[in-house]
Amino acid sequence: MSDAEQSFPPPTASYEADPGNVQRVLLLYSGGLDTSVMLKWIQDRYEAEVVCLTVNLGQPGEDYAVIVEKARRLGALECHVVDAREEFAREYVLPAIKANALYGGGYPLFTALGRPLIAKLAVDYARSNGCDTIAHGCTGKGNDQVRIEATVATLAPELRTIAPVRSWQMGREEEIAYAREHGIPIKSHQAGGTGGEIAPYSIDDNLWGRSSEGRWIEELDHAPEDDVFQLVTRPELAPDEAETVEIEFERGVPVGFDGERMELVALLERAAEVAARHGVGIVDHIEDRIVGLKVRDIYEAPAAALLLPAHQELEKLVCTIHQNQFKGGLERQWAYLVYAGLWWEPLRGDLDAYMESVNEQVTGTIGMKLYKGHARVVTRSSPNAVYDQALASFGESGGLFSQTASPGFIELWSLQSRMAWRLRNR
Ligand code: ARG
Repeated sequence: MSDAEQSFPPPTASYEADPGNVQRVLLLYSGGLDTSVMLKWIQDRYEAEVVCLTVNLGQPGEDYAVIVEKARRLGALECHVVDAREEFAREYVLPAIKANALYGGGYPLFTALGRPLIAKLAVDYARSNGCDTIAHGCTGKGNDQVRIEATVATLAPELRTIAPVRSWQMGREEEIAYAREHGIPIKSHQAGGTGGEIAPYSIDDNLWGRSSEGRWIEELDHAPEDDVFQLVTRPELAPDEAETVEIEFERGVPVGFDGERMELVALLERAAEVAARHGVGIVDHIEDRIVGLKVRDIYEAPAAALLLPAHQELEKLVCTIHQNQFKGGLERQWAYLVYAGLWWEPLRGDLDAYMESVNEQVTGTIGMKLYKGHARVVTRSSPNAVYDQALASFGESGGLFSQTASPGFIELWSLQSRMAWRLRNR
């Protein structure tokens, strides 16, 4: 038995790597502490080669040249960077918009939407780089491990996965010690300042939003501290002047912002910028994770906070009462599947077919007024609105809508309810 085989517990799942067979690993690399330690640790413990992949999903403030340089210095054969913003926006965020997707009533799913794409790219790069195994930095407590491993196991049954953070049993201190020992650069906020050991928030972000977890966020009675908001302006600091923007949709796709036609990625970035400036998109969320835990997240999702309500409003205007009653249930199911890591589940595709069909009519423009943390629909227009001002008006009587037909309608409409009431009140 080799060293590697002796020091690892036997795999639980069929897709987990057998340490003896790990030759070349595709590591999903962020450049942060966990995956940097991992890059070294995999080479040491598995005696394997490592190829890194870093995926750009529009997370702000990332310096990819620095990440690549760091990976190479830590021994990676190669560090690939892919700009997947366009694919992410088109194939993942757009379906979420058409499905008005919010999990638990508040989470616009940015991380949940990003993981299946990241894992799909990992599969592509693993195959083209001759890797047998995919490694990622997820812990054993979160949803992301489910999303990544379910994707790999679905798309590439021949590949195996390893999740070192789940098994290496290093705490933060030990990781930092390991990093120091192996010449892995540590940012001062990771090690804690000279005064104390303040661990950073656990952050994940992309162009659809940003999450923070950890530290005081785990104390449910602790109101948000100001320093957590790195994306959205705190509402109390937002401009004193309100701003109204118009968002134009074609068949459910946002195509224009304030009269200017834009590509999707640019439009999402513009929406995020305007909403963030006005303090829009902060969500303090209690969430039921798929692995059974209940946790609190602080979300900053400015683009979603502006575009989802606009889309939903337009959709409501062009759909009938029956479509509007029906769609919410399917939206909840869609959001739950995606949250739960089952992006590749056929039911999601079936639901998308319905969303697509409904969105055929979702063309028009919605005006949203932004002011100190709020975004409110103020204007609507659509060639497909199931709306006739003359019919709805209080000013008109008669016309196509026959008010004298109403009493007959009410009599029949309420018939069963009235009978049941009488029976119960005999
Ligand atoms: N609670 C959210 C989710 O499950 C956000 C997770 C953020 N992930 C992270 N690795 N920090 O999708």
